[in-house]
Amino acid sequence: MKTIAALVACVALPAVCLAAEGAGKAALVIRADQGAETISRHIYGHFAEHLGSCIYGGLWVGEDSSIPHTRGIRNDVVDALRAIKIPVLRWPGGCFADEYHWKDGIGPRERRPAMINTHWGGVVENNHFGTHEFLDLCEQLGCEPYICGNVGSGSVEEMADWVEYITFDGKSPMADLRRANGREQPWKLKYFGVGNENWGCGGSMRPEYYADLYRRFQTYVRNFSGNRIFKIACGPNGGDHRWLEVVVREAGRMMQGIAPHYYCGSGKASRSATVFTEVDWFEQLVRARRIEELLARQEEILDSLDPQRRIAIIFDEWGAWHQVEPGTNPGFLYQQNSLRDAMVAGLTLNIFNSHARRVKMANIAQTVNVLQAMVLTKGEQMLLTPTYYVYLLYTVHHDATLLPATLASDAYRFENGSLPAVHASASRDREGTIHVSLCNIDPARAIEVEAAIEGAKASAVSGAILTAAEITAHNTFEKPDTVKPADFQACAATATGFTATLPPKSIVVLQIK
Ligand code: AHR
Repeated sequence: MKTIAALVACVALPAVCLAAEGAGKAALVIRADQGAETISRHIYGHFAEHLGSCIYGGLWVGEDSSIPHTRGIRNDVVDALRAIKIPVLRWPGGCFADEYHWKDGIGPRERRPAMINTHWGGVVENNHFGTHEFLDLCEQLGCEPYICGNVGSGSVEEMADWVEYITFDGKSPMADLRRANGREQPWKLKYFGVGNENWGCGGSMRPEYYADLYRRFQTYVRNFSGNRIFKIACGPNGGDHRWLEVVVREAGRMMQGIAPHYYCGSGKASRSATVFTEVDWFEQLVRARRIEELLARQEEILDSLDPQRRIAIIFDEWGAWHQVEPGTNPGFLYQQNSLRDAMVAGLTLNIFNSHARRVKMANIAQTVNVLQAMVLTKGEQMLLTPTYYVYLLYTVHHDATLLPATLASDAYRFENGSLPAVHASASRDREGTIHVSLCNIDPARAIEVEAAIEGAKASAVSGAILTAAEITAHNTFEKPDTVKPADFQACAATATGFTATLPPKSIVVLQIK
């Protein structure tokens, strides 16, 4: 598998790949003769908040640090995120966004005022990472910036000034201030959020009130100097569909996107990220799959209010939320990340792909050291989490054409519950190569997938796999390679498609030529 093999150190997996004794079955039909939607690469987007050590220590170490950095931004983390082709980064929050006053984060760092980060641990925020540093980070990452403005405690003027400061290329008070702070040229800024979770930490508003505020604030989010802003409204919390209806009905014509949030929590018996049993594995995956039902209803509502599909779903916070690691500040949301989290990511990304018609961006929470992170750091050390590797394997879907697929899978049964064991997504890239991402969530049973491809012939199939011996497997600073991708060989082309035997608890990405 060329693209993936180039990125991962491929190690042939032992016979477990091939052993299919007592295996379950799944039948997949991929319609390569169809395919109308592009899977936006922004579905693979990220989110970094001033929370715990996401920014400070995780992304920003400062210009005096002994940790290798470029203008204060750590090189190892930038390299890791570039490898997964990070397409877009949302900042500065989260709840922090509605307390953030951007003018505190510009100018000479030693003169920037400090504030208290009341949401996250009550620590002092020195504002050393601000607008210039964030936009520099995005340039180093090669990704689009997505800025979330302050509606909860900010003013219309403050929001208007921020956009002018970043994007105006003429002479104006804000553009001159930017120049005085060392940046002559404006930046391009496409994505701008008008508030975050304004039903909760962003102001405890009712949807009617937020819709009116949205209309007012967004009026002053201007398009300067050829820059065109894609305005994103605060969306619902989980299943609060009324929020979506009211905000879109009252303000829909003034937005390009609306941003729902959904966190799938943790286990049932244990909320630990690494000490749990199958009870918690099953519970977590049931909760992860709920996003499909939420999206289906959100799409119904949007289809009725916006049949032209002008408004995109920008799912800008999602992921697993476990107990913090023992001994860490509860306000810092620092959690480990296991094979179970990788499965949550694999399933959720497959679901977002299948809703590519309306979902144009999604941002997992959060990039470094917070919640379902890609990367964990400890001083100068950095490790890549199992979730990171799902993002690495799934890069093949970025901007590819979604191929409709139907799947009939044996069930994964646990106690009184059951879920389909296999979940899949297929796409075709610009070179015509088909990729299929498959998750077998059954922790004990392999599944033989028999796939038919309509409208294309498979002559060669290869792949990569992410799995581990235990459902709780995770990477630590002492053992950073416990969970990482390997070459996958239990697959073959057939006259009508391909077959693949998915080991228990595995995520497999196939390349079909
Ligand atoms: O991602 C952590 C927090 O979760 C965000 O700040 C907030 O928007 C959400 O409640």
